[in-house]
Amino acid sequence: MDDVIKIRGKRKLKGEVTVSSCKNSVVAILPSVVLASEIVKLYDVPDIKDVQILIKLLEKLNIKVNADGDELLIDPTGIRNVDLLDEDVMKLRASYYFMGALLGRFKHVKMYSPGGCNLGPRPIDLHLKGFEALGAKIRQDGNIIEIDADELTGDDIYLDFASVGATINIMLAACFARGRTTIENAAKEPEIIDLSSMLNKMGAQIRGAGTSEITINGISRLKGCIHDIIPDRIEAGTYIIAAAACGEDVTVRNVIPQHIEALTSKLEEMGVKLEQGSDYVRVFEAGKLKAVDIITQPFPGFATDLQQPLTALMTRAEGDSHVEETIYVDRFRHCNELNLMGANIETGSGKSVIHGPSELHGADISATDLRCGASLVIAGLMADGETVIHNAYHIYRGYESIVEKLRAIGADIE
Ligand code: EPU
Repeated sequence: MDDVIKIRGKRKLKGEVTVSSCKNSVVAILPSVVLASEIVKLYDVPDIKDVQILIKLLEKLNIKVNADGDELLIDPTGIRNVDLLDEDVMKLRASYYFMGALLGRFKHVKMYSPGGCNLGPRPIDLHLKGFEALGAKIRQDGNIIEIDADELTGDDIYLDFASVGATINIMLAACFARGRTTIENAAKEPEIIDLSSMLNKMGAQIRGAGTSEITINGISRLKGCIHDIIPDRIEAGTYIIAAAACGEDVTVRNVIPQHIEALTSKLEEMGVKLEQGSDYVRVFEAGKLKAVDIITQPFPGFATDLQQPLTALMTRAEGDSHVEETIYVDRFRHCNELNLMGANIETGSGKSVIHGPSELHGADISATDLRCGASLVIAGLMADGETVIHNAYHIYRGYESIVEKLRAIGADIE
């Protein structure tokens, strides 16, 4: 059955909303447990679809996962390296982290290629080149990838692009490689620091996460650990944008403000009044907003994952806002849906121009991917009348209890 979110817009949002732990951290952390020889305990694990699928994949590998509320106790002591030829692998992007983790632990992995949001081409050539540099041989047969190594040996690996996925996958494979691996032009996203600090608690020797050069000194065993996952900067940004769009006075809690500086400074340039504390951002009612331009970039630049949500707010700004998307040039499907709600957006060649201001009205629209869905939720909150968002399952892949959280601050949403 079609998953639908209905919103009756133009309600003022007021109160507090607490951000959950980070999706793009936990989706790397769960596969990384393959490397552990002892129990791993994770706190504050978000209840989102991507986590549920990864738990099923861990269980296929005979890893035991026990949930107690939002705590997970993961016991990898009985792990078996079975082929992951399961359709669940194709339901999300992050299943590719099993490649690095299983290659590192067993020197062999056979699985389907990953799936994930349709944002245009999403190759994994940099991941595979990294594995080859460590000594692995790769065979691809249609949708099946098989990777083997007699032994993994550290090497200097330069990434042509600072890819989040390739940086993490190489880190995972290199933990048990002989000698030292260096990743140059590594991605610097906070999720990489989070994973590296967890692996180091387990005994890994990873230095430099969060900079463009990461070194991994190979070891032979990783123990268990207890880990608390960082807050989700994209979820935080989404609620901050929603509050800027329709808020009277909203405080977004469990935020690391340094992780979203590119967004908060852009909002201030638009005319949104913010108060930032050590772990919260308070958003005051916004008056007229100014048009601004953004260019998406790897961290600490403006996050591609917040480009779609911010576009919804840009429809309210006076004048033309320009968006240039450098990470996923086809990440513009939300614009068609926003236009159905009365926005005036032109797209082409990795760019969009939002002619504002527009008065949005409710419509029957569809979430084509996760952050498109977030953009449409914000638009629905702003719009006059009822908005029906189809294919809402995309939204549940990454936003824990989004309907309940928004309803608690005054949204009319079900
Ligand atoms: N790229 C290549 N070759 C590769 C890998 C990447 O050409 O081998 C290109 C991609 O096609 C893209 C760019 O490099 O143009 C960036 O890709 P990256 O590898 O950095 O992204 P990712 O690891 O596939 C993660 C997040 C995305 C987020 C991006 C950028 C996860 C599971 N996914 O994807 O999150 O947009 O980093 O920050 O961590 C989302 O949460 O909605 C989402 C899509």
